[in-house]
Amino acid sequence: MQAEVESTFIGTANHGYGQHAQEEIRRLFGQGCKFGMLVPAEIFIFTLPVDKEEATRRLLEQEPMFLRHIQPVDARQTWNGGSMDELVELVRTTKVLSLEEGAATAVQVRKTEQVGSELSPAGCKQAIDRVLAERFGTVAVVKDAKWTVSVYLTAAEVYLGLSRPEHNLSDWSGGAVRFRKEEGQVSRAKFKLLEAERVFGLDFSQYRSAIDIGAAPGGWTSLLLERGLRVTAVDPAKLDKELLRNPRLTFLQKNAGDVKFPENSFDLLVCDMSWSPRQMARLVKELLYALQSGGTAVITVKLLHKKPFQTVREMLEDVQPELMLQKAKQLFHNREELTLFLVKA
Ligand SMILES: C[S@@+](CC[C@H](N)C(=O)[O-])C[C@H]1O[C@@H](n2cnc3c(N)ncnc32)[C@H](O)[C@@H]1O
Repeated sequence: MQAEVESTFIGTANHGYGQHAQEEIRRLFGQGCKFGMLVPAEIFIFTLPVDKEEATRRLLEQEPMFLRHIQPVDARQTWNGGSMDELVELVRTTKVLSLEEGAATAVQVRKTEQVGSELSPAGCKQAIDRVLAERFGTVAVVKDAKWTVSVYLTAAEVYLGLSRPEHNLSDWSGGAVRFRKEEGQVSRAKFKLLEAERVFGLDFSQYRSAIDIGAAPGGWTSLLLERGLRVTAVDPAKLDKELLRNPRLTFLQKNAGDVKFPENSFDLLVCDMSWSPRQMARLVKELLYALQSGGTAVITVKLLHKKPFQTVREMLEDVQPELMLQKAKQLFHNREELTLFLVKA
């Protein structure tokens, strides 16, 4: 029997983690969820047995770890390969868009590989921006939008949705957070910590003193130094030479199991060790005396053997009760791992 109310969304996860995102959604909404695949192991369409508001509320309140981005599907239209004219006509006539004059509106367009190159996301975005400006008098923006108009194109269908950007789990198109690579950037790993700062709503400049466990070559350390912190970097491997000149850096070229600090030395602990999660958890736990009560920890967890839920559960059991989980998220810049934001009790 069909549910009386339902809502449809497109969900995006990191490649290889689509099934895990679907499992989390099923746990939240029960067996009444229906899924269809758009891009294997990554992007999927799903219908929930509750209305759009209720669905959004629950997904925000109990945000799934592996669901990077959602966009509502308020209208869908079948087409044969698609054309710009058809797309423009749909946006011009659809009843599901209702926007106030002057509203800052971000149009985000994605498509599957099977859609022809004449429908480029950038070209479609420009065309839709124009139609919305003519139809409603909206102002096209990329960031700080009041509304996001999300469009997803496949060879068979076009999906259209309207939402507040903060209801999409990420205000970046598909949750693909892009940072500009800087000249002389020590490592790409820096993007992970930059993304964690945004996604977890942290402001590292508000901290005083950090310990970076597994710091080499020094991407995370470089970000924390840029934010003005004193940083103690611990790693048996070498740190970038340029960083070593920074007077606010202390580098201990050692295994994390062999270092000692005065109690409460740090208000921030970060750890990006590509290592077995449980051994990493044990090392972190042994160093927690050096993190002040109320201090923050940001930790990446390697997902081994494709059992991510169990890996996270065990890792958390190892560091509790001293560390309390605030949020666990697979970030766009995480590969076979996810990132935890925790606070010391
Ligand atoms: C992925 S890299 C860290 C990248 C770093 N976050 C960056 O931004 O450049 C992992 C690091 O963990 C270090 N590591 C592994 N086991 C360690 C241990 N027991 N103690 C300290 N560091 C360790 C490795 O030497 C390696 O440099």
